[in-house]
Amino acid sequence: MLSVKIVGLGKYLPKKILTNHDLERMVDTSDEWITTRTGIKRRRIVEGESASDLGTKAARRAIKAAAVKPEDIELIIVATITPDTQFPSTACYIQKNIGAKKAAVFDVSAACSGFVYALAVAKGMISAGLYKNALVVGSEILSSITDWNDRSTCVLFGDGAGAAVVVPTTESKGILGIHLGGDGNLADLLILPAGGSRLPVSKSTVENRQHYIKMRGNEVFKIAVKIMVDTVVKALANSKLRPQDIDLLVPHQANLRIINAVAKRLGLEENRVFVNINKYGNMSSASTAVALCEAYESGRIKKGDIVALDTFGGGLVWASCIIRWD
Ligand code: ACO
Repeated sequence: MLSVKIVGLGKYLPKKILTNHDLERMVDTSDEWITTRTGIKRRRIVEGESASDLGTKAARRAIKAAAVKPEDIELIIVATITPDTQFPSTACYIQKNIGAKKAAVFDVSAACSGFVYALAVAKGMISAGLYKNALVVGSEILSSITDWNDRSTCVLFGDGAGAAVVVPTTESKGILGIHLGGDGNLADLLILPAGGSRLPVSKSTVENRQHYIKMRGNEVFKIAVKIMVDTVVKALANSKLRPQDIDLLVPHQANLRIINAVAKRLGLEENRVFVNINKYGNMSSASTAVALCEAYESGRIKKGDIVALDTFGGGLVWASCIIRWD
């Protein structure tokens, strides 16, 4: 059975930086509270750009790094919970922007786990022989669904995009094992209540601020650590590996305390865990994509390393994948 390997990575972050001190002037919060509770110091926020704009820039960089021509891309999967439009998919806009005329295109909705879910779908379709390559993008404009009056959530999120090009490889290289899961019973813990078919846009949904993220953060926090440990251990088992085999853990960047607790339970020292939440906050599906790209570009990943992507988010859904870097 074939697997897939990553041959190109790219990222794009909007230019505008919103610091904790900026937020102190917007809501009743402090740099000290945000830093100690989350590890976040600043985040990037768009000025007039959409998810496809950010995703296109990240995709162009990944395609360049992979040395493939846009017209040779066969599949584009975009993970996002903040698509440009309900439909067409954001993948359609990115396809148009980069000129990937022959690509099949669709979006995946799996919140913060979206990038790993999308990688898993790409692996499945390539392994089945349907396509010879895929462009996988995580792109989010979380600022568009953030309630800037709600201090319990507005300090957490940011905007950004990351992308990867994957191609077939032999079974012992590239993505070795994956674990995906979810629990819809916990849907209400983290939800964008209105704007879908259950609660279409109306005067009352706007007045009640139901088009913004609602999160029971403390409850999510407690479950997150257990879930992230569980999913990555299962993905490792699917790869016939154990936590001590991980060279670099690239976790979803939701909260530094969650990341540290997960690393501790896995027995990983600081130098085997990648963290960039201080610069960008939580960018949902883009977080893992950008973190993986930065880890590689900064020399933290070498050929032969075992890299573990470990994510969870609204749904709740979770996803891990183990990569032998090639
Ligand atoms: N500034 C100052 N005080 C605040 C702020 C703020 N920005 N936000 C909340 N507080 C206050 C609360 O009102 C509360 O005050 P009280 O004790 O007087 O009632 C106090 O701080 C503690 O609030 P908690 O919610 O218990 O704080 P906690 O330590 O749990 O941290 C946080 C909150 C950061 C949200 C944390 O729970 C967390 O990170 N949760 C997980 C988030 C997550 O991972 N989400 C999943 C991914 S997101 C996605 O899928 C889109």
